[in-house]
Amino acid sequence: MPACYPALRLRRGRSTPWMRDMLAEHRLHPSDLIWPLFICAGEGCAEPIAALPGVSRWTVDQLAKQARLAADAGIPCVALFPNTPQPLRSDDAREALNRDNLICRAIKTIKDAVPDIGVLTDVALDPYTSHGHDGLIDEAGNVVNDDTVAILADQALVQAEAGADIVAPSDMMDGRVAAIRAALEREGHCDVAIMAYAAKYASAFYGPFRDAVGSSGRLKGDKRGYQMNPANIDEALREVELDLAEGADMVMVKPGMPYLDVLARVKDAFGVPTFAYQVSGEYAMIEHAAAAGAGDRDALILETLLAFKRAGATGVLSYHALDAARLING
Ligand code: PBG
Repeated sequence: MPACYPALRLRRGRSTPWMRDMLAEHRLHPSDLIWPLFICAGEGCAEPIAALPGVSRWTVDQLAKQARLAADAGIPCVALFPNTPQPLRSDDAREALNRDNLICRAIKTIKDAVPDIGVLTDVALDPYTSHGHDGLIDEAGNVVNDDTVAILADQALVQAEAGADIVAPSDMMDGRVAAIRAALEREGHCDVAIMAYAAKYASAFYGPFRDAVGSSGRLKGDKRGYQMNPANIDEALREVELDLAEGADMVMVKPGMPYLDVLARVKDAFGVPTFAYQVSGEYAMIEHAAAAGAGDRDALILETLLAFKRAGATGVLSYHALDAARLING
């Protein structure tokens, strides 16, 4: 063996904590995280969500405290999801346009109490429809595109008027980003940004979320007529291209961990702010695995979130955001 063999020893770069730190190519920071929060009707309580161990729905009066905790941990933005009381759900989702609905009250509460945190809202009709779909359905049960888009534009306006900073259409209708952008400009909300759920797949990982917003028992059929086929990646690039052409400021890939290849391709191809959503089923998977002793919870959280950064994410929506930010802050 020659004296200098092997000349290149990559283990030198892994030898000490300071060396590993110094050579880290990617880092996770609290400012990479967006924290989704669920809202319920009533006052003074938190309802634990059985399908998401450790996550609760908050009544509006409890939200400011949660947003404060997030801001103090360095999280730049929260995402809000309402569990609309069942009697207020209808075939036409009219509660989505009520200026005093749960989401509007939640936005105002957070903007008043914690002005230093951003508020992102979901644009889609599933928390408001009696059938659990993201849009209006015809007699055959198909989600109709254009009539849905008209309502989504109004829904986004209602959220913007209440103070939302970013509206995030998650419905996967065609043409909704253009319609929302036009409505926002028309009504003077030119500062409200759009984060398009551009590549959103029809995924089995959304189950616990549908429990959290109370739409699971109601959903007739599935969402494969509008959400993407998990088999496709070229199509994801076309979706992103379209949403950007229609005026999206930032795009999202969803779910997260099983779609890191899509995330990487999207970021490489377009170089725009690109977010990943580590969805409810992924959160539940980590929690259940840790509870069963299959892995260390904190390490699983930090490793999976860092993986999004390595794949090119600008940021990540995660139910673990507050815990992760606290772990990073030490
Ligand atoms: C609704 C919406 C869903 C999620 C975010 N917005 C569910 C769905 O499309 O059925 C899922 C988020 C999660 O699972 O954490 N349009």
